Amino acid sequence: MQDIIQLDPSLVAARVSLDEIPVIDFAPFLHGDAPARAAVAEKIGDACRNIGFFYVINHGVPETLVADVYAQSKRFFALPAAQKAEIAIENSLCHRGYFQLGGENLDPARQKTVGDLKEGIKIGRDLPATHKLVAAGTPLHGPNQWPQNLPGWREVMEDYYAAMEFLGRELLHAFALALDIPETYFDRWLDAPMTTLGPLHYPPQRGHITEAQIGAGAHTDYGCLTMLAQDDAGGLQVRNAAGIFIDAPPIPGSFVVNIGDMMERWTNGVFTSTLHRVINISGRERYSIPFFFDPDFYAPVECLTTCLGDGAKFPPTTAGQHLLDMINASFSYHKEKA
Ligand code: OGA
Ligand code: NI
Repeated sequence: MQDIIQLDPSLVAARVSLDEIPVIDFAPFLHGDAPARAAVAEKIGDACRNIGFFYVINHGVPETLVADVYAQSKRFFALPAAQKAEIAIENSLCHRGYFQLGGENLDPARQKTVGDLKEGIKIGRDLPATHKLVAAGTPLHGPNQWPQNLPGWREVMEDYYAAMEFLGRELLHAFALALDIPETYFDRWLDAPMTTLGPLHYPPQRGHITEAQIGAGAHTDYGCLTMLAQDDAGGLQVRNAAGIFIDAPPIPGSFVVNIGDMMERWTNGVFTSTLHRVINISGRERYSIPFFFDPDFYAPVECLTTCLGDGAKFPPTTAGQHLLDMINASFSYHKEKA
């Protein structure tokens, strides 16, 4: 017998035409001339101002590589709990490794007693103890934890990491153009950018579902830029400018791109960091692969001159401090450590 799923009315998403979350062809930016690039940047700028979310297609990351990452990610999540715990994030000094169901809580105000109904892995820039930032004790910098006994796993993750880092840099070039600053403006803060690959697994959710626990509680992303591959299960919802949650359905071959709080802060609110959440009511497992793109730890995040308007709305900070504040708010293990 099929289990009954009853969504609390507060969790129902509206269906609207897709142009609310625009689908942007990125090929002309990657391969086109200056006017073609400017036209793509303008579309991206509009999306970042209006809803803070868009899809990219023709982004240059091979479909086979995306498929490989899903396969490796499923392989890991299917391991016995004890084996996953061998790379537990609690053992890491730099927020790398596996977190179990409930380990992250993206909406602690509503999910008061349990965390998100998802498990995940954090893979960052793999830096040895001898690297100058690690030797200096810079938070969030250091080695990854790689699962043992999964031949090929690390290689696929590293290939994907490199491909997504390249795409992230190109998206930042488009952002810069859209913000009327030199295209390479952000490059100076991308020496050892804090980029994180974070495969996720959402078990199916049944019964009476309320805001007290969903797959990913309503949140804005902390960082600069997120590029998400989602499988065909659906369940991602985005709050539009009218304050209504709308579906962000899977589009094969696309990434869902969104702005995080750091970019909102950098642009003085010109780009919006938008609330979103995940509820897996597909009845089956859901897998997604977010890639979080953040600049160097010491990158100053202060209002861009072209976004100043009537004055800066946020005090200046650094990328690293901003991320630490945010991670402490959603990972209790990290806060306790700090
Ligand atoms: C996130 C997120 C969406 C998804 O990890 O910040 O919003 O579909 N993920 O997993
Ligand atoms: Ni998110």
